Amino acid sequence: MKIINQISHLNYNLIEYDIVDSTMILAKKFPENTIVIARKQKSGRGKGDRVWESEDNNNLYFSMNVKSDKKKLDYSQLSFLASVAMRQAISAIQTSQPSNIRASIVSKWPNDILINEKKACGILLEMDCANQMLIIGVGVNIDAFPSGTLFKATSLKQEGIITDRYSLLKEFLNNFNFLLKEWIEVGFSSIRDKWISACYRLNQEIEVDCQRGIFRDLDKNGTLILELENGKKIMVKSGDVF
Ligand code: BTN
Repeated sequence: MKIINQISHLNYNLIEYDIVDSTMILAKKFPENTIVIARKQKSGRGKGDRVWESEDNNNLYFSMNVKSDKKKLDYSQLSFLASVAMRQAISAIQTSQPSNIRASIVSKWPNDILINEKKACGILLEMDCANQMLIIGVGVNIDAFPSGTLFKATSLKQEGIITDRYSLLKEFLNNFNFLLKEWIEVGFSSIRDKWISACYRLNQEIEVDCQRGIFRDLDKNGTLILELENGKKIMVKSGDVF
Protein backbone atom coordinates (compact mmCIF):
# COMPACT_ATOMS: atom_id res chain seq x y z
CA MET A 1 0.00 0.00 0.00
CA LYS A 2 1.30 3.43 -0.93
CA ILE A 3 -0.11 6.77 0.18
CA ILE A 4 0.33 9.34 -2.55
CA ASN A 5 0.08 13.05 -1.88
CA GLN A 6 0.13 14.39 -5.38
CA ILE A 7 -3.56 15.29 -5.34
CA SER A 8 -3.77 16.38 -1.74
CA HIS A 9 -4.55 19.95 -2.85
CA LEU A 10 -7.96 18.59 -3.85
CA ASN A 11 -8.64 17.38 -0.31
CA TYR A 12 -8.60 13.67 -1.05
CA ASN A 13 -6.27 11.08 0.37
CA LEU A 14 -5.12 8.83 -2.42
CA ILE A 15 -4.14 5.30 -1.46
CA GLU A 16 -2.65 3.06 -4.08
CA TYR A 17 -2.40 -0.72 -4.09
CA ASP A 18 -0.85 -3.08 -6.59
CA ILE A 19 -3.47 -5.83 -6.25
CA VAL A 20 -6.80 -5.82 -4.40
CA ASP A 21 -9.97 -7.88 -4.52
CA SER A 22 -12.06 -4.81 -5.32
CA THR A 23 -11.48 -1.14 -4.52
CA MET A 24 -15.20 -1.03 -3.58
CA ILE A 25 -14.47 -3.16 -0.50
CA LEU A 26 -11.38 -1.24 0.59
CA ALA A 27 -12.89 2.22 0.17
CA LYS A 28 -15.38 1.33 2.93
CA LYS A 29 -12.55 0.85 5.39
CA PHE A 30 -11.12 4.38 5.20
CA PRO A 31 -12.35 7.74 6.46
CA GLU A 32 -14.35 9.94 4.08
CA ASN A 33 -12.71 11.56 1.06
CA THR A 34 -10.34 8.68 0.49
CA ILE A 35 -9.66 7.40 -2.99
CA VAL A 36 -8.47 3.84 -3.33
CA ILE A 37 -6.78 3.12 -6.64
CA ALA A 38 -5.40 -0.24 -7.74
CA ARG A 39 -3.28 -1.46 -10.63
CA LYS A 40 -5.20 -4.75 -10.68
CA GLN A 41 -8.40 -6.13 -9.10
CA LYS A 42 -8.91 -9.85 -8.59
CA SER A 43 -12.69 -9.49 -8.20
CA GLY A 44 -13.55 -6.26 -9.96
CA ARG A 45 -17.31 -5.90 -10.11
CA GLY A 46 -19.70 -4.04 -12.33
CA LYS A 47 -23.38 -3.19 -12.36
CA GLY A 48 -25.81 -6.09 -12.04
CA ASP A 49 -23.17 -8.25 -10.34
CA ARG A 50 -21.22 -8.52 -13.57
CA VAL A 51 -17.46 -8.98 -13.58
CA TRP A 52 -15.33 -5.90 -14.37
CA GLU A 53 -12.13 -7.21 -15.95
CA SER A 54 -9.28 -5.53 -14.07
CA GLU A 55 -5.89 -6.69 -15.26
CA ASP A 56 -2.69 -4.71 -14.65
CA ASN A 57 -2.72 -2.97 -18.01
CA ASN A 58 -2.72 0.80 -17.36
CA ASN A 59 -6.53 0.89 -17.07
CA LEU A 60 -7.95 3.01 -14.24
CA TYR A 61 -9.71 1.35 -11.29
CA PHE A 62 -10.64 3.47 -8.29
CA SER A 63 -13.31 3.99 -5.63
CA MET A 64 -13.91 7.15 -3.66
CA ASN A 65 -15.96 7.49 -0.51
CA VAL A 66 -18.17 10.49 0.12
CA LYS A 67 -20.00 11.23 3.35
CA SER A 68 -23.73 11.14 2.64
CA ASP A 69 -25.28 12.38 5.84
CA LYS A 70 -27.22 15.39 4.59
CA LYS A 71 -30.74 14.03 4.46
CA LYS A 72 -32.15 16.55 2.00
CA LEU A 73 -29.70 15.56 -0.76
CA ASP A 74 -30.34 12.69 -3.16
CA TYR A 75 -26.95 11.02 -3.34
CA SER A 76 -27.88 8.74 -6.25
CA GLN A 77 -27.54 11.88 -8.39
CA LEU A 78 -23.79 11.66 -7.80
CA SER A 79 -23.67 8.86 -10.35
CA PHE A 80 -24.63 11.42 -13.04
CA LEU A 81 -22.22 13.92 -11.55
CA ALA A 82 -19.34 11.42 -11.69
CA SER A 83 -20.26 10.49 -15.24
CA VAL A 84 -20.26 14.15 -16.37
CA ALA A 85 -16.93 14.72 -14.58
CA MET A 86 -15.30 11.76 -16.34
CA ARG A 87 -16.79 12.65 -19.73
CA GLN A 88 -15.41 16.18 -19.39
CA ALA A 89 -12.03 14.77 -18.31
CA ILE A 90 -11.74 12.45 -21.33
CA SER A 91 -12.91 15.25 -23.65
CA ALA A 92 -10.34 17.68 -22.23
CA ILE A 93 -7.54 15.15 -22.72
CA GLN A 94 -8.68 14.56 -26.27
CA THR A 95 -8.78 18.31 -26.97
CA SER A 96 -5.25 18.76 -25.62
CA GLN A 97 -3.89 16.27 -28.15
CA PRO A 98 -2.63 17.23 -31.58
CA SER A 99 -4.76 14.85 -33.69
CA ASN A 100 -7.49 16.35 -35.89
CA ILE A 101 -9.64 13.27 -35.45
CA ARG A 102 -12.24 13.89 -32.76
CA ALA A 103 -14.03 10.93 -31.22
CA SER A 104 -17.63 11.25 -30.04
CA ILE A 105 -17.66 11.07 -26.23
CA VAL A 106 -21.11 10.77 -24.66
CA SER A 107 -22.87 9.52 -21.54
CA LYS A 108 -25.11 6.47 -21.72
CA TRP A 109 -27.86 6.30 -19.11
CA PRO A 110 -27.36 6.27 -16.27
CA ASN A 111 -23.59 6.64 -15.98
CA ASP A 112 -21.59 4.81 -18.65
CA ILE A 113 -19.33 6.69 -21.03
CA LEU A 114 -19.22 5.75 -24.67
CA ILE A 115 -16.53 6.66 -27.14
CA ASN A 116 -17.67 6.29 -30.74
CA GLU A 117 -20.69 4.35 -29.41
CA LYS A 118 -18.64 1.75 -27.49
CA LYS A 119 -18.29 1.59 -23.71
CA ALA A 120 -15.03 2.93 -22.28
CA CYS A 121 -16.03 3.70 -18.68
CA GLY A 122 -18.42 2.27 -16.11
CA ILE A 123 -19.46 3.66 -12.74
CA LEU A 124 -20.83 1.74 -9.77
CA LEU A 125 -22.49 3.28 -6.71
CA GLU A 126 -22.74 1.43 -3.40
CA MET A 127 -24.07 2.67 -0.10
CA ASP A 128 -22.26 1.91 3.15
CA CYS A 129 -25.24 2.46 5.45
CA ALA A 130 -23.38 1.75 8.68
CA ASN A 131 -20.99 4.65 8.05
CA GLN A 132 -23.39 6.82 6.02
CA MET A 133 -20.96 6.77 3.17
CA LEU A 134 -21.46 6.52 -0.55
CA ILE A 135 -18.83 4.63 -2.51
CA ILE A 136 -18.36 5.68 -6.12
CA GLY A 137 -16.39 3.12 -8.13
CA VAL A 138 -15.02 4.06 -11.53
CA GLY A 139 -13.39 1.86 -14.14
CA VAL A 140 -11.91 3.33 -17.32
CA ASN A 141 -10.49 1.32 -20.20
CA ILE A 142 -7.43 3.42 -20.94
CA ASP A 143 -5.30 0.96 -22.90
CA ALA A 144 -7.21 -2.34 -22.89
CA PHE A 145 -10.81 -3.47 -23.21
CA PRO A 146 -12.63 -6.76 -22.86
CA SER A 147 -14.22 -8.66 -25.72
CA GLY A 148 -17.57 -10.43 -25.66
CA THR A 149 -19.29 -7.86 -23.44
CA LEU A 150 -23.06 -7.27 -23.49
CA PHE A 151 -22.49 -3.77 -24.86
CA LYS A 152 -19.48 -3.45 -27.18
CA ALA A 153 -16.42 -2.09 -25.35
CA THR A 154 -13.47 0.03 -26.39
CA SER A 155 -10.50 1.82 -24.83
CA LEU A 156 -9.33 5.41 -24.98
CA LYS A 157 -6.20 4.26 -26.79
CA GLN A 158 -8.22 2.33 -29.37
CA GLU A 159 -10.12 5.55 -30.14
CA GLY A 160 -6.93 7.61 -30.42
CA ILE A 161 -6.89 9.18 -26.93
CA ILE A 162 -3.59 8.64 -25.15
CA THR A 163 -3.28 9.16 -21.41
CA ASP A 164 -2.26 7.51 -18.14
CA ARG A 165 -4.28 6.73 -15.05
CA TYR A 166 -2.94 9.58 -12.88
CA SER A 167 -3.50 12.32 -15.46
CA LEU A 168 -7.02 11.06 -16.05
CA LEU A 169 -7.80 10.77 -12.33
CA LYS A 170 -6.49 14.27 -11.68
CA GLU A 171 -8.58 15.76 -14.47
CA PHE A 172 -11.62 13.83 -13.21
CA LEU A 173 -11.18 15.10 -9.65
CA ASN A 174 -10.87 18.73 -10.74
CA ASN A 175 -14.17 18.41 -12.58
CA PHE A 176 -15.80 16.36 -9.82
CA ASN A 177 -14.97 18.96 -7.16
CA PHE A 178 -16.29 21.80 -9.28
CA LEU A 179 -19.54 19.95 -10.07
CA LEU A 180 -19.97 18.81 -6.47
CA LYS A 181 -19.85 22.41 -5.26
CA GLU A 182 -22.38 23.37 -7.94
CA TRP A 183 -24.64 20.45 -6.96
CA ILE A 184 -24.58 21.39 -3.27
CA GLU A 185 -25.25 25.06 -4.01
CA VAL A 186 -27.70 24.88 -6.92
CA GLY A 187 -29.05 21.33 -6.94
CA PHE A 188 -29.24 18.70 -9.66
CA SER A 189 -30.63 20.80 -12.55
CA SER A 190 -27.31 22.00 -13.96
CA ILE A 191 -25.73 18.52 -13.66
CA ARG A 192 -28.75 17.12 -15.47
CA ASP A 193 -28.42 19.74 -18.24
CA LYS A 194 -24.73 18.92 -18.67
CA TRP A 195 -25.47 15.19 -18.73
CA ILE A 196 -28.18 15.66 -21.38
CA SER A 197 -26.04 17.95 -23.55
CA ALA A 198 -23.95 14.93 -24.68
CA CYS A 199 -25.88 11.72 -24.21
CA TYR A 200 -26.53 8.56 -26.19
CA ARG A 201 -29.73 8.28 -28.22
CA LEU A 202 -31.83 11.11 -26.80
CA ASN A 203 -35.04 11.22 -28.90
CA GLN A 204 -34.05 7.95 -30.54
CA GLU A 205 -35.17 4.36 -30.11
CA ILE A 206 -33.59 2.39 -27.28
CA GLU A 207 -34.22 -0.80 -25.37
CA VAL A 208 -34.14 -0.56 -21.59
CA ASP A 209 -35.49 -2.86 -18.90
CA CYS A 210 -36.76 -5.21 -21.68
CA GLN A 211 -38.90 -2.48 -23.26
CA ARG A 212 -38.42 -0.61 -26.53
CA GLY A 213 -39.34 3.00 -27.01
CA ILE A 214 -38.03 6.51 -27.60
CA PHE A 215 -35.71 7.96 -24.96
CA ARG A 216 -37.53 11.27 -24.44
CA ASP A 217 -35.97 12.85 -21.37
CA LEU A 218 -34.43 12.61 -17.94
CA ASP A 219 -36.71 13.85 -15.20
CA LYS A 220 -35.54 16.19 -12.47
CA ASN A 221 -34.13 13.26 -10.45
CA GLY A 222 -32.39 11.40 -13.27
CA THR A 223 -35.17 8.90 -14.03
CA LEU A 224 -35.34 7.97 -17.73
CA ILE A 225 -38.58 8.79 -19.55
CA LEU A 226 -39.38 6.26 -22.24
CA GLU A 227 -42.14 6.79 -24.78
CA LEU A 228 -43.65 3.48 -25.82
CA GLU A 229 -45.04 2.75 -29.29
CA ASN A 230 -48.59 3.47 -28.06
CA GLY A 231 -47.52 6.97 -26.99
CA LYS A 232 -47.59 6.19 -23.29
CA LYS A 233 -44.64 7.58 -21.34
CA ILE A 234 -43.13 5.44 -18.59
CA MET A 235 -40.46 6.16 -16.00
CA VAL A 236 -37.47 3.81 -15.85
CA LYS A 237 -35.42 3.93 -12.66
CA SER A 238 -32.78 1.32 -13.42
CA GLY A 239 -31.60 -0.96 -16.19
CA ASP A 240 -29.19 -1.22 -19.11
CA VAL A 241 -29.74 0.83 -22.25
CA PHE A 242 -29.13 -0.84 -25.63
C1 BTN B 1 -20.28 -0.97 -14.71
O1 BTN B 1 -20.69 -2.15 -14.70
O2 BTN B 1 -20.49 -0.26 -15.69
C2 BTN B 1 -19.59 -0.40 -13.50
C3 BTN B 1 -18.15 -0.79 -13.47
C4 BTN B 1 -17.40 -0.24 -12.27
C5 BTN B 1 -15.97 -0.79 -12.20
C6 BTN B 1 -15.18 -0.12 -11.13
S1 BTN B 1 -13.45 -0.48 -11.24
C7 BTN B 1 -13.19 0.26 -9.68
C8 BTN B 1 -14.34 -0.16 -8.82
N1 BTN B 1 -14.06 -1.44 -8.21
C9 BTN B 1 -14.88 -2.39 -8.64
O3 BTN B 1 -14.85 -3.60 -8.28
N2 BTN B 1 -15.77 -1.88 -9.50
C10 BTN B 1 -15.56 -0.47 -9.70
